[in-house]
Amino acid sequence: MITEEENNLLTQTGKGKPCGELMRRYWQPAALSDELAADKPFPVQLFGEELVLFRDGTGTAALIGRYCAHQGVDMMYGRVEPDGLRCLYHGWLFDNCGKVLLRGDWLPEKERRWDVGQPSYPVIESGGVIYTFMGVGDAPALPGDGAPRAEIKRLPREHSYWQGIVGLNETNMDDGQFFLPNVVRTSVLTRWLVPVDDKSHMEFVFHGAAVAQPAGEPLANAGERLIGALRDSASAAAAPS
Ligand code: FES
Repeated sequence: MITEEENNLLTQTGKGKPCGELMRRYWQPAALSDELAADKPFPVQLFGEELVLFRDGTGTAALIGRYCAHQGVDMMYGRVEPDGLRCLYHGWLFDNCGKVLLRGDWLPEKERRWDVGQPSYPVIESGGVIYTFMGVGDAPALPGDGAPRAEIKRLPREHSYWQGIVGLNETNMDDGQFFLPNVVRTSVLTRWLVPVDDKSHMEFVFHGAAVAQPAGEPLANAGERLIGALRDSASAAAAPS
C-alpha cells in the first residue's frame, strides 16, 4: 500500500515535479507517424504541456508550443508552409525549432530568425512512432530497435499513467516486466504509458516482441522501483553542487 505522499510523487508529472523531471529525461512517444499529415498540425499534450506537431517542407516532424508567442492564438489552426508553421492571426512564421522566421528571402539565413518564439523539443521518427525528448542536456539513445511492429496503437486513457501500471499489474500479466520510468513489456506486447497530465495518459501499445529485449524488473516491483528512482533524483537535485 502506498502512502498519499508516495502517490503524489508518482502521479505529479508537471514541470519541476520529480516524476515530471524524471520522465523528461527519456525519449517518449508523442504520436503515431500516420497521425501527422504533411499539411496539418497535430495537437498533443505531454506532462501537462500543450504542444503541436507539424512537418516542415522536407517532411521532418517538429514539436513546438501550441499557442502563438505573439498573442496566444492556437497554432493547431496554423498553416504548414515549407519553412515552418504560420499563425493565421498576424502571420508569424515559426521554424521547426519554434523560432520566429522573419519574412524576406533577401535576408541572409542567419538574419531570418528572430530570437523569440515557442518552446520546442527534439523529435525522432522511428518505426512508425514520433518520439520527443523534453529533458535538458543530452538525450539518451532511443530505446528499442526502431523496427516496425505488426501493429501500434495510441489509446487515450482517462486515468493517470500510474493507475494504468497498477491496472496492468492487477490483470493477468504474469510475465510483465517494468522498465523505468513508464514502460511495461510482456513477451508479445510493449505498453508505453505516457502522461498527458496528472489525471490522464496515452497508452502506446506495440504488438510484437522487441528484437533486442533487455531484462526489466518484475512488474509487481514497479512502485518500489519508481519511488526509489524519484527519491534519488529529487535528492540529487537538492544536493549543493
Ligand atoms: S497571434 Fe499569432 S501572429 Fe499574432
